[in-house]
Amino acid sequence: MNEEAKRKLLRMIPHALYVLTSKADGQTAASTVSWVTQASFHPPLVAVGIKKETHTFEVTKRAQGFTLNFLGVDQKEVAQKFFKHVGPEGNQLGGEVFQESPVLKHPIFPKMAGFVECRIVQTVDRGDHAVVVAEVLEAECGPLEGPLLLSTTGWNYGG
Ligand SMILES: Cc1cc2nc3c(=O)[nH]c(=O)nc-3n(C[C@H](O)[C@H](O)[C@H](O)COP(=O)(O)O)c2cc1C
Repeated sequence: MNEEAKRKLLRMIPHALYVLTSKADGQTAASTVSWVTQASFHPPLVAVGIKKETHTFEVTKRAQGFTLNFLGVDQKEVAQKFFKHVGPEGNQLGGEVFQESPVLKHPIFPKMAGFVECRIVQTVDRGDHAVVVAEVLEAECGPLEGPLLLSTTGWNYGG
């Protein structure tokens, strides 16, 4: 394997950034993720790579669902708040006001580009991240323009 070429090419796969949230049994998770793609029109499916052995994966698995909150173009500092686990404080997560999503009751952030609510239909558990396939049950646009592209942040995740 040419490791250098693998890293360089896999990092060319374009990504945006999202805050994935989930809630189950009184536990809340909120994590910035980038490995997200649409995977079907009918039904509308998305696939997300979620790191195993994380609080986020445990909560998401228990909930069998999550919400993808689409960050606005200028919300790099917001993305940064969810690289580590943060618990809710009142109506805030990482200092950002959240509400409950309408269908699955996961946290949503009203000041972003929008959110999709997803119910997990299958999990492929073959690597250090699980590929979680989920059906989009509801969607709502927010006040900000999105997306926040990983390529504009100077950060890398992949390779
Ligand atoms: C630029 C960037 C992109 C990331 N993308 C993902 C991702 O797609 N999936 C993922 O599980 N973690 C991703 N992470 C790591 C998570 O933000 C987070 O650190 C990890 O899920 C820890 O979860 P926990 O706090 O629930 O234990 C990314 C981190 C960075 C810096």
